[in-house]
Amino acid sequence: MSAAGAGAAAAGAAPAVTAVTVRVPAKVNAGLAVGAARPDGFHDLANVFLAVSLYDEVTATPADTLTVTCSGPDADQVPLDRTNLAARAAELLAARHGLDPAVHLHIAKNIPVAGGMAGGSADGAGALLACDLLWGLGSSPAELLEICAELGSDVPFSLVGGAALGTGRGEQLAPLESGIFHWVFAVADGGLSTPAVFREFDRLAAAAGTEIPAPLAAPDLLAALAAGDPDALAATLLNDLQAAALSLRPELARTLDAGLDAGALAALVSGSGPTTAFLVRDPESAAKVAGALTASGTCRATSVATSPAPGATRH
Ligand code: C5P
Repeated sequence: MSAAGAGAAAAGAAPAVTAVTVRVPAKVNAGLAVGAARPDGFHDLANVFLAVSLYDEVTATPADTLTVTCSGPDADQVPLDRTNLAARAAELLAARHGLDPAVHLHIAKNIPVAGGMAGGSADGAGALLACDLLWGLGSSPAELLEICAELGSDVPFSLVGGAALGTGRGEQLAPLESGIFHWVFAVADGGLSTPAVFREFDRLAAAAGTEIPAPLAAPDLLAALAAGDPDALAATLLNDLQAAALSLRPELARTLDAGLDAGALAALVSGSGPTTAFLVRDPESAAKVAGALTASGTCRATSVATSPAPGATRH
């Protein structure tokens, strides 16, 4: 069931639901234009989001109290306390309905942790939809999106998926047309803190002394996306956070070079990093680039994926 169909769960005499699993995609930013810091500390963005076919799964089951568990190769890096966006999603939804968030949330983690691919946001959106279905609340998509925006700037997109332009701090979404694209992702050792990368962006801008223009999504990027043209998209990919991520993790330049040397059409840091993203022409090229990245020793793991992918979906 898609997020848009969540309302069906409210139906009356159905037997009690004992577990709900929701699958949620990672994202890559095909265009991330960043404006100057706002008085509230956030930055206005023109954020061209693409959901990619790399997924976490969140399973909600009734429990005595709110608990979070996690499985997967990087499970030990995932906080299991109330700072986990999945836990916060359950709390926010329950509070709105005067409920006790008595639920066990299990995250089957496949998206890199603190990797710039909105893995934490995906878990928040997944938990929100799973709890809404488990508790039979039948929240409208607009109600769910409002809670998502409260959880974090990228969480609304994790719920809807596909391709979208995010403005404001990234939470105001307008769907975009997109053809299918092939990607390779190189996972780095350790994560990068998103606030730290934005702070480095501010520091570099201040040091350069240049005026930061209002963020805009480039029309040629949007046209390349809509046309499904990988060469045109390769020429227009943009990440204004890349210089900041590279300044904090200079070794990522070697990973970017290794993917380009292996034939990727374009290479960029994914969001605030440190995951790097490689646009490739087709699945054969994806396999070749992924193999070369692994052999280069410049990353910890690679994944191959396509965009766009669906948003949070009952599994
Ligand atoms: O919204 P979210 O909680 O994901 O943001 C994490 C941090 O990233 C914010 O506290 C802020 O430092 C930074 N951020 C920003 N501008 C945005 C989105 C995030 O400065 N548009």
